[in-house]
Amino acid sequence: MLNLGERPHKSNGQVVLNKDAVCLRGFAAAIAEELFLATIDIAKTTPFRQMFTPGGKPMSAFMTNSGELGWISDRRGYRYAKTDPETGLAWPPMPQVFRDVATRAAAAGGFAPFEPDVALINRYDIGARMSLHQDRDESDFTQPIVSVSLGLPAVFLWGGALRSEKPKRIELLHGDVVVWGGASRLNFHGIHPIAPNEHPLTGQFRYNLTFRRASPLRPA
Ligand code: SIN
Ligand code: FE2
Repeated sequence: MLNLGERPHKSNGQVVLNKDAVCLRGFAAAIAEELFLATIDIAKTTPFRQMFTPGGKPMSAFMTNSGELGWISDRRGYRYAKTDPETGLAWPPMPQVFRDVATRAAAAGGFAPFEPDVALINRYDIGARMSLHQDRDESDFTQPIVSVSLGLPAVFLWGGALRSEKPKRIELLHGDVVVWGGASRLNFHGIHPIAPNEHPLTGQFRYNLTFRRASPLRPA
């Protein structure tokens, strides 16, 4: 059994991870089904796919995007693109329910206003993981990251500014939202391999919506 020191919930539903980083327990629970259905809809036109690291390794989570830009990775590196390299078409527009939850959660985490232009969607099968990394392909690090968990539980690894810092383990459940920015914006983070389980809405998958502002707020 993992030692999940951050459970049970604090009474106000918030677990402070660090300065400028907070887990909002159940923040998206009431709209989780709507978020999930919108996700499935996006994947109908822009399917989940395995991307490759610049070093040529397949990533464990399957990904797609919605929004003005989408995050992609291949031999040429990590970057944002206006079109889906698989279809050559623009990514599907970001659903209003995505924009709303991202803006509201950012505000609850102390980052207002926040207007995402990317919703990167990760789909994890049982056993899938994400190794420790920084989100650093965006142009303006004053803008936070908002990360919504749907479906199977996960153990979020929350590290520090250096890769060598031992990460904390925080259990993320369906409807939990993590917001980080400011002093924590470039903290390392990742996902421990998803344990075998079944979720009533998503089956044997975990989904994660990660909202970012990739392009400059005021284009140069
Ligand atoms: C990410 O860092 O892009 C994903 C985090 C998560 O799946 O919760
Ligand atoms: Fe990330």
